[in-house]
Amino acid sequence: QWVAVLAGGLSHEREVSLRSGRRLSAALRGVGMTVDEWDADANLLTRLREHRPDAVVIALHGGAGENGSVQSVLEMLGVPYVGTDPRACRRAWDKPTAKAELARAGLATPDWVVLPHATFRELGAQAVLDAMVESLGLPLMLKPDQGGSALGAQVVRDAAALPAAMVACLAYGETVLAERFIEGVEVAVTVIDGPEGPEVLPAVEIRPESGVYDYTARYTAGLTDFHAPARLDRATAAAVSELAVSAHRLLGLRDVSRTDAVIAPDGTVHFLEVNVSPGLTETSLLPMAVEASGRSLGEIYAGLVDRAVA
Ligand code: DAL
Ligand code: MG
Repeated sequence: QWVAVLAGGLSHEREVSLRSGRRLSAALRGVGMTVDEWDADANLLTRLREHRPDAVVIALHGGAGENGSVQSVLEMLGVPYVGTDPRACRRAWDKPTAKAELARAGLATPDWVVLPHATFRELGAQAVLDAMVESLGLPLMLKPDQGGSALGAQVVRDAAALPAAMVACLAYGETVLAERFIEGVEVAVTVIDGPEGPEVLPAVEIRPESGVYDYTARYTAGLTDFHAPARLDRATAAAVSELAVSAHRLLGLRDVSRTDAVIAPDGTVHFLEVNVSPGLTETSLLPMAVEASGRSLGEIYAGLVDRAVA
């Protein structure tokens, strides 16, 4: 049995994905699997058809690897893969869609508005920004509606900083998700499907030194303190786990997901987003959760490969 690990690709998160792919490949080899690492480039389809791996594990982040495109190709070719099907990938990848879906089910998520680039042109930028501040208040968080690793994300505390932040955010996409920013404790919760249903790994508490968990704070060792398991009271720990399992189930996710959430000062746990291809780098959250669970990355992903092939 041999697996192809897909990494790289053309998204803004290419470098992160290459690191995830290297770590995952090493972990799978460590438990005796035969692994080939493939860059997800224009030769991917040809390679898949020629070499037909027994299973594919997607370590791609951003764009095609998380929006369901690569998954669609694998479905077309009938190649088993670890992870969520194309439709559910699309739903999870689009942050406003995921938020709306979970809000409809009664889960807490910060208030938000979605603003396509054209809105600013058509209605006048300042008027739109004023309405946004009036509706959401300050501080607020701007994110590209689709994206990862906090690329383009901006915390705005002062209305005067809003136009520049909006421009910086729009550099990464056509549409902005503006959310009320909750000053709380961020946690990341991994869910892994097993024979007995979804299993929650210990939550990871995120404490960036700068106060904002941006790209640099994510991928530079030492700039963020992590606690795995998170230092939470029993009730909050249970609420956090429940939120992650609800997100996994309601969005129809398969095999693995990582839900990012923020615990507000009043104790409410708010859904922020969910990742269908969580980072696996040396500073990424899922491997910390795996370690805190007493297992290894290789063991967990080999289990998922077995499920995909079965
Ligand atoms: N988007 C990055 C890889 C993460 O969620 O870990
Ligand atoms: Mg993400």
